[in-house]
Amino acid sequence: MRVLVTGGAGYIGSTVARRLVDAGHHVVVLDNLSQGHRAAVPAEAGFVEADLRHRDQVEHVLSDHRPEAIMHFASNTLVGESMEEPFLYLDDNVRCGINLMRSAVEYDVERFILSSTANLFGVPERIPLDEEVTIAPGSPYGESKFILERMLHWLDETHNLRFAALRYFNAAGAAGPDQGEDHDPETHLIPIVLEVALGQRDKIVIFGDDYDTPDGTCVRDYVHVLDLAEAHILALEALDDGSRVYNLGNGEGYSVREVIETARRVTGQEIPAEVGAPRPGDPATLIASSDKIRDELGWTPQYGDLEDIIGTAWAWHRRHPDGYNPAE
Ligand code: UFG
Repeated sequence: MRVLVTGGAGYIGSTVARRLVDAGHHVVVLDNLSQGHRAAVPAEAGFVEADLRHRDQVEHVLSDHRPEAIMHFASNTLVGESMEEPFLYLDDNVRCGINLMRSAVEYDVERFILSSTANLFGVPERIPLDEEVTIAPGSPYGESKFILERMLHWLDETHNLRFAALRYFNAAGAAGPDQGEDHDPETHLIPIVLEVALGQRDKIVIFGDDYDTPDGTCVRDYVHVLDLAEAHILALEALDDGSRVYNLGNGEGYSVREVIETARRVTGQEIPAEVGAPRPGDPATLIASSDKIRDELGWTPQYGDLEDIIGTAWAWHRRHPDGYNPAE
């Protein structure tokens, strides 16, 4: 299939682009490189530097490449940032999605896969979170993804655009020692902890230890980026049977302190930690139930163990301490 991957130079998008190429699909990556890295795009994929905020640029890509499916990763994705800069999310994320969906409809694309998020559930009414839990986005970021999910619902109704919304819990780990997570600035827990292990930072600051969790720090469900990639392949194949939404996680929660402890074991480094203020927008606990995608599509995560997940990330960080663009 011809697949357009927006944000295919980013952490999850590039991993999925690689997996698509390996599965024999023709992949074109659209990325503005504001966060992504050209070096992360698989050599076998086409690449267009374009900005989804500009409708004409999006149209060009669609008319040139005529994709049969679109996977939409390009996005602002930070819960904390969205509490400080809501319009980056409520405007940019939504506008980019609209531009892409308009072109998808115009060029008769029939399959659309959206990177969605566990942040749709805010402070959830029950754990683990299945797809029936009430949606109440926890931040402008979560809201922006929910708006895009609803748009896709209506485009399915009106234009037969079949979609899958894949709600990732905490994406983590590296696809290989030469393909991993590289954000600037980095804000995610596991890469920051590993930067401390590498001596690039003095310490990890734990954002609050007074949450209603066993050790007072936030609990998250870390899911390996390769397992996420596999879910995209399965969802793409299943779309001909209709639209669907899935929660994607391991079903296991780990606290911030447990992540730090595990990273100490994996790296053999001390990793100093201190407690700081909570981060606005952070719910205490997010753990997925992914029974639906397991039952319907046979999704079986290969990296259930946090030590394995952090181990793959550590291999990447050790080999590429400066990420994709090492300082000259
Ligand atoms: N944390 C710290 N210190 C840090 C960084 C993070 O204590 O320096 C904590 C956070 O407070 C949170 C946990 O570690 O409790 C994980 O934080 P991340 O920033 O790694 O990830 P988030 O849970 O904030 O968000 C991630 C993605 C979102 C996605 C969400 C779904 O960035 O896009 O998972 O759960 F929506």
